[in-house]
Amino acid sequence: MASIIRHVSVVFFLVSLLHFGSSSSEKELEYEKWISWNKQNYLMKKKIMATETVRGIKVVDVKLRNAEMNKVRVSVSQNGTGDFMTIREALASIHLKNTKRVVLDIGPGVYREKIIVPKTMDFITFLGNASDPPTITWNDTASSINGRDGRPMKTFQSATVAVDASYFLAFNIKFENTAPHKIGSAGEQAVALRISGTKAAFYSCSFYGSQDTLYDHKGLHYFYNCFIQGSVDFIFGYGRSLYENCHLNSLAKKVASLTAQKRNDASMQSGFSFKDSKITGSGHVYLGRAWGDYSRVVFSYTFMDSLVLPQGWSDWGKQSNDERVYYGEYECSGPGANLSGRVSWARILTAQEAKPFIGTYFIDGDTWLTSPLTAANS
Ligand SMILES: *[C@@H]1O[C@H](CO)[C@@H](O)[C@H](O)[C@H]1NC(C)=O
Ligand SMILES: *[C@@H]1O[C@H](CO)[C@@H](O)[C@H](O)[C@H]1NC(C)=O
Ligand SMILES: *[C@@H]1O[C@H](CO)[C@@H](O)[C@H](O)[C@H]1NC(C)=O
Ligand SMILES: *[C@@H]1O[C@H](CO)[C@@H](O)[C@H](O)[C@H]1NC(C)=O
Repeated sequence: MASIIRHVSVVFFLVSLLHFGSSSSEKELEYEKWISWNKQNYLMKKKIMATETVRGIKVVDVKLRNAEMNKVRVSVSQNGTGDFMTIREALASIHLKNTKRVVLDIGPGVYREKIIVPKTMDFITFLGNASDPPTITWNDTASSINGRDGRPMKTFQSATVAVDASYFLAFNIKFENTAPHKIGSAGEQAVALRISGTKAAFYSCSFYGSQDTLYDHKGLHYFYNCFIQGSVDFIFGYGRSLYENCHLNSLAKKVASLTAQKRNDASMQSGFSFKDSKITGSGHVYLGRAWGDYSRVVFSYTFMDSLVLPQGWSDWGKQSNDERVYYGEYECSGPGANLSGRVSWARILTAQEAKPFIGTYFIDGDTWLTSPLTAANS
């Protein structure tokens, strides 16, 4: 890991030299700011890493290290052989201010439950079996009535599973919101998963919904080998997230957008990066539309089927955003990746420009991301 970091910093350094003195356009200025932020961030992390060493290994996050060393397992099974029969009951048994890794070993089956992992309940893992992954399903929408105050619950509360805690992990889990979507009707945002905590990772999970399937709300997130399906804006929010080896499948009937990234301020270090992924499905889709004025999305090494519109990106009718958004593509393939019809403000990235987005360093992974095997085994 250390050598990767060193390599990255060298690249950042070189890139910043190349760009020095050429701040003619707002775009370039933006890019330089991003690079210099990355350099500062790297230096800060190096300082933290130098502060503690355990058995010759630099410990970056003491809280995380302690949580993993005190790991416990709880089983959830619908046939009554586990500690609990529902995920809600299992979560209710965990201390609200949790400090150790608690792995919920979830047996196969369809769990019709609406779940919230509260803000202080860090270090929870949902572990399903790859050969028969459990499904967590519900069907609230933004216009569903909230039982507490009798008002519509809005997009935020429509989530089947909402994670407000940090250090959340999930393996082989199917997250689903089954509310149907009709074109042109309002209030049908129906989230399958909302992730609002930071330092969360999802491995081999699937997300099924229609409008607004995956609310990548905020924080640092990693998605690996995941399947994400929806119709409109089905990955949205202002998380800083890396999606690797993921499959985005559109259910759109007409024209829609895959992502609606909400970076709405030039100083926000937020953005979605998709690497080694693929885009398939129905309708005609933009890769992204600017929910935030400084929306940032990058696709690299990704297969794009013909559903991707030649224009590629949408400013959501706000031309002043064209200079502000950061919509990049690098080394993509397939009929949808033809760049000849792209909007003029789409960025065809050079290797140097793509570099900051295409590794787990994009999400500060070296400070919190453990290898999937280590994370799954106790
Ligand atoms: C009950 O389900 C678990 C998985 O949750 C499985 O390992 C176990 O074999 C099942 N037992 C019976 C009796 O079906
Ligand atoms: C997953 O399920 C299969 C089939 O029931 C079983 O053979 C295997 O041991 C399970 N894996 C784990 C990690 O529990
Ligand atoms: C959710 O499903 C339940 C049970 O099938 C149904 O009664 C309810 O109307 C559905 N709610 C929405 C908002 O679709
Ligand atoms: C890309 O699209 C243009 C315009 O439609 C077309 O002329 C060109 O052949 C396409 N290139 C590839 C590699 O398909």
